[in-house]
Amino acid sequence: MEVIIQPDYSEMSRLAARMVVEVLNTKPNAVLGMATGSTPLGLYQELVRLYKAGEVDFSRVTTFNLDEYVGLPTNHPQSYHYFMRENFFNHVNIQPQNINIPSGTTDNYPAFCEWYEQRIEECGGIDLQILGIGSDGHIAFNEPTSSLSSRTRLKTLAKQTIDDNARFFERREDVPVYAITMGVGTILDARKIILLAGGTSKASAIASMVEGPVTSMVTASALQLHSDTKVIVDEDAASELQMREYYEFIYRAKPAAPTG
Ligand code: F6R
Repeated sequence: MEVIIQPDYSEMSRLAARMVVEVLNTKPNAVLGMATGSTPLGLYQELVRLYKAGEVDFSRVTTFNLDEYVGLPTNHPQSYHYFMRENFFNHVNIQPQNINIPSGTTDNYPAFCEWYEQRIEECGGIDLQILGIGSDGHIAFNEPTSSLSSRTRLKTLAKQTIDDNARFFERREDVPVYAITMGVGTILDARKIILLAGGTSKASAIASMVEGPVTSMVTASALQLHSDTKVIVDEDAASELQMREYYEFIYRAKPAAPTG
């Protein structure tokens, strides 16, 4: 993992957007893995700005979202379908048929999950996966003790996640208990990954993910096994990292590596 510490949330979002644009400039028909939640909002805003400035084109891009709440129809304001439309898809030139988001209202979840995995494969696999991290160390909705080789499936949300996400709902009881989510194994198949985190509430999860053991108790720690993951954090989310100086040295100050 490469850890990149940025002064604040907006610098973190801008850097992540530059990385997405770099992938799309190299491969205009890239497959992007998308995350929802508070963390990637700044990244999506910056991508929309760059699109409006003519610096990026989404017309050939395909997307796959990580997850969706079970039981919420696509027009529910807290559904991830709604979130993606409002915060990103409605503002760029992506083709609607190229958007893939897990269904929270299918009547056959196992069949849908199998189809979702197949669809990712048919599209050539995910080139760049964008991730946030839960305060319990989850990626997508792979809660603590999820198998590190799991694929897309139905998952019961942990109490910590329900508490964290209650802020988006009128009442805590309204937070769905189940979600459909890509597995850790699905995520590890992506060619490149960028994980974003901001704020002190993520500091402990970030330290465990980067510097702790690989464990299903912190499913993000499985990213230690991935060969091209960048972790972009703000100062607050970096505050519990022990090797911080080393990461900064690598990112900002390292001398040119030997060529021979
Ligand atoms: C959302 C997702 C989740 C969030 C995580 C952090 O699609 O997969 O893993 O990334 O719960 O959420 P925020 O960014 O709201 O703190």
